[in-house]
Amino acid sequence: MAGIMSGTKKIFLGPIVSSSSFKDLSFAGYLATENGKITKLGSREEYNSLQQSGAFTDHKTITLKPGQLLIPGFVDCHTHAPQFPNLGIGLDRPLLEWLDKYTFPLESQYKDVEFAAKVYDKVVQRLLTNGTTTACYFGSLHLEGTIELAKTVLKHKQRALVGKVSMNLKNDAGYYNETAAELDQVEKFVQTILSYKNDLVQPVITPRFAVSCDEPLMTGLAMIAQKYDCRIQSHISENLKEIEYVLEMYPSCTSYGEVYDKSQILSNKCILAHAIHLTEAEMSLLAARGVSLAHCPASNTRLRSGLCPVRKYRQRGLRVGLGTDVSGGDSASILDAVRRSMDVSTHLDLQAGGDNAISWKEAFYLATMGGAEALNLDHKIGNFQVGKELDALLVDVYAAGNIDRHEYSADNTEEERVTNLLQKFVYLADDRNILQVYVKGELVKDISN
Ligand code: GUN
Ligand code: FE
Repeated sequence: MAGIMSGTKKIFLGPIVSSSSFKDLSFAGYLATENGKITKLGSREEYNSLQQSGAFTDHKTITLKPGQLLIPGFVDCHTHAPQFPNLGIGLDRPLLEWLDKYTFPLESQYKDVEFAAKVYDKVVQRLLTNGTTTACYFGSLHLEGTIELAKTVLKHKQRALVGKVSMNLKNDAGYYNETAAELDQVEKFVQTILSYKNDLVQPVITPRFAVSCDEPLMTGLAMIAQKYDCRIQSHISENLKEIEYVLEMYPSCTSYGEVYDKSQILSNKCILAHAIHLTEAEMSLLAARGVSLAHCPASNTRLRSGLCPVRKYRQRGLRVGLGTDVSGGDSASILDAVRRSMDVSTHLDLQAGGDNAISWKEAFYLATMGGAEALNLDHKIGNFQVGKELDALLVDVYAAGNIDRHEYSADNTEEERVTNLLQKFVYLADDRNILQVYVKGELVKDISN
């Protein structure tokens, strides 16, 4: 019995750090969990007195070594699981040509469930290794293949939103479904995922984008989302040609956002990727509907789509998280997205002659709390608070030898010391520095030995 108890109750002892707001960090010296939830969080002194009174005798203690930190797990708000085999190739064409030439032909192959299972097993493990404890996935058009993705997520105990991609407009690859069959399959998909009754994996309705879906399909999908109270995800305003094409398809609409609004896609459970070229009216519309955005800086640069003004969107009241957007993005790592989001913001800021680029702490927020907010999961994850579930990374800044040591001056406070460690991690770390990954309090990846 003692073994079971120690498995469900844990204490992390050492520097614990997460975002308390967009600009600020909050610190603790210990964190206690029970059944995956954070039960206590406080200073080392508080720990010492509670420990002396025997409060933690049935807890398993994980003591952090010098150079180690416990931080929230990363949230990837937008990635395409079936596109991983294309990572790092075929980035020579802009969006619409890239989709036709490289992406739809690859995704078509996920009709083969065995192939899907093989790829998805690698994808989910890869993301956990990268520190992505929560992912919002686009699967493929295929029902069975995408169910396989959800099963793989459950197998490896990642937290995820999984979407079966919907498309009903013709393309050269023949990669689309008829409307009625598509709506039927999406409903089956939702019912299947809900039947697992595991809150770690939820279905997300996934109209690919307005270029691939007509209004009857989008409206039908919006109805399914309402019926099952699901989230809904798509792409918007990624590329200027795409926007032009959408406005030609919908001459009665004045903007891309309006196309989605007429199809009833927009709500506070809607996550839209890219949103690079929004007009003022679209920003107001999306903010009024409570839509959140997945900022995908790697993809936006690699496909030459544009520079997304994240600071401005946040000021307009839009929730923003980060997305890797594999394989438009060339990295599956949210740490890479963190750095690229800082770079893009700096480039925009330089162009504007301003001094308002997003800081590393703000980028860290986007990767954790921002993502949790964008996916409507901030009541459960995103930072460390009593009552939330523990999705966390035990990181070691110096263990892998890839990061040079900072010699601390004697007058640094403990908070400054921890802040500097985290800063080094944000700017310099890679997978080698992510020793352990916890989802809902459970160790799901461990390279500490
Ligand atoms: N727009 C529609 N589909 C896609 C996709 O697969 N990747 C990206 N980056 N944009 C899209
Ligand atoms: Fe995408």
